[in-house]
Amino acid sequence: MSVDRLCSYFGLTRMPFSKELSPSSLFCSAGHNEAVARLTWCIGERGIATLTGEVGSGKTVALRATVAGLEPSRHQVIYCPNPVIGGRGILAALVTALGGTPRFHRSALVPQAAEALALAEAERGRRVLVAIDEAHLLADDQLEDVRMLTSAELDSKSPLALVLIGQPLLRRRLAQTTMAALDQRVSLRVQLEGMERAESGEYLRHHLSLCGRSDPLFSDDAVAVLHHASRGLPRALNNLALQALIATFAESKAIVDERAAKMAVVEVNGE
Ligand SMILES: Nc1ncnc2c1ncn2[C@@H]1O[C@H](COP(=O)(O)OP(=O)(O)O)[C@@H](O)[C@H]1O
Ligand SMILES: [Mg+2]
Repeated sequence: MSVDRLCSYFGLTRMPFSKELSPSSLFCSAGHNEAVARLTWCIGERGIATLTGEVGSGKTVALRATVAGLEPSRHQVIYCPNPVIGGRGILAALVTALGGTPRFHRSALVPQAAEALALAEAERGRRVLVAIDEAHLLADDQLEDVRMLTSAELDSKSPLALVLIGQPLLRRRLAQTTMAALDQRVSLRVQLEGMERAESGEYLRHHLSLCGRSDPLFSDDAVAVLHHASRGLPRALNNLALQALIATFAESKAIVDERAAKMAVVEVNGE
């Protein structure tokens, strides 16, 4: 199957359901909008937030949208895509991102990171946002580093805004007694759920319209099948919708129907 042929067959300008979306072309589901609004507020308050949700629920996308909405001259965003970052860990990454050379000993690294944060705010007038993705993977000592970072000066305001992004397991990890000191500092907890059925339909139409196709391409029955199988999670919807499109193309049909949707579910989920 050639991508070009499939696109021209359905009147699409490019392959739909792509991963690379600019912030302005995102689908604004209720959950997405709410996550962005609440995270933006929390960052303004220099708070600590958790953003949780299942794999493919749109967490990283929601964070990117939030960051895109921040005034660039007034914020410095340090994004850690994966906490399993080398031996030196989060504090060293933070110091490096703020222009310093990380000290060797961990005990010296904590005050150094705190100083670098204070400088960023005082001298450059920039609020620092640290966003750690896949934070459910953080080891206990890494979480401890995060905690120290947020409580460098107990009496004064937090020196940074922090967003911990991860699978629902993250919330359970923070709830453990050993993490209580960090958990108590979390001022915002956002959980992304799958979209409602109507939103799943709008989501599919949105992605197709980004590729130049504004009239319906998926039947209502097909949307229902895809929504059910994906539980309204965007990444799963993308994968299923693409397979359904390919199945429709293969059978030379004009509209993705229930049959094509079911074939896609078997193809992707194996059921
Ligand atoms: N608001 C949205 N608008 C358009 N596409 C989205 C949106 N949210 C998620 N997606 C799609 O779903 C995929 C998975 O989202 P992502 O944020 O990577 O999930 P997570 O980080 O929760 O695993 C993205 O690559 C994107 O294609
Ligand atoms: Mg992600």
